[in-house]
Amino acid sequence: MRIVVLVSGTGSNLQAVIDAVKAGELDVEIAAVGADREGTYGVERSAAAGIPTFVVDFKAYPDRTDWNAALARAVAAYSPDVVVSSGFMRIVSPDFIDAFNGRYLNTHPALLPAFPGAHGVRDAMAYGVKVTGCTVHWADAGVDTGPIIAQEAVAIEDADTEETLHERIKVVERRLLVSTLAALAADPEYSAA
Ligand code: GRF
Repeated sequence: MRIVVLVSGTGSNLQAVIDAVKAGELDVEIAAVGADREGTYGVERSAAAGIPTFVVDFKAYPDRTDWNAALARAVAAYSPDVVVSSGFMRIVSPDFIDAFNGRYLNTHPALLPAFPGAHGVRDAMAYGVKVTGCTVHWADAGVDTGPIIAQEAVAIEDADTEETLHERIKVVERRLLVSTLAALAADPEYSAA
């Protein structure tokens, strides 16, 4: 299974995938890593690991349609079986998702459909839920919507700040992303029981 991973930030989920591949624990080929802006640590890590990288800078395009088309071209050049949005903070168009047959995987730091959006951790805390978690799902053109593949719960502790909770969720999220990719590599129709 060939994957292209899209990042906007530090890419610690991506690093978990890179490490699992290197350790021989995950049988996927990371064909390339792309970002929506220059200077992300995610791209830096990938280049250091010898993975091809590209940037399709959102700000360099006159509108979202042009940016989406450019992103689709850049990703398609690597012929991925699955495109992974790993902390990629942009919504892509339905055309983009169609171009990859709907195989656009997203990770989210909350138990969807609860707390979608850019502040899933903060919103869960503000609501006062006692349990949150993370979700790996096939993304459609909505904000953190689309069929759920796997989820895992994380308890919220009284002393948690948004940062401490997000870090604990990310520990689980990294493991869940790697195990879900492994399961999809073995069975493209995989969905957790
Ligand atoms: C993850 O929690 C992801 O779900 C969210 O942002 C975080 C990205 O972390 N959208 P990283 O860039 O992989 O470290």
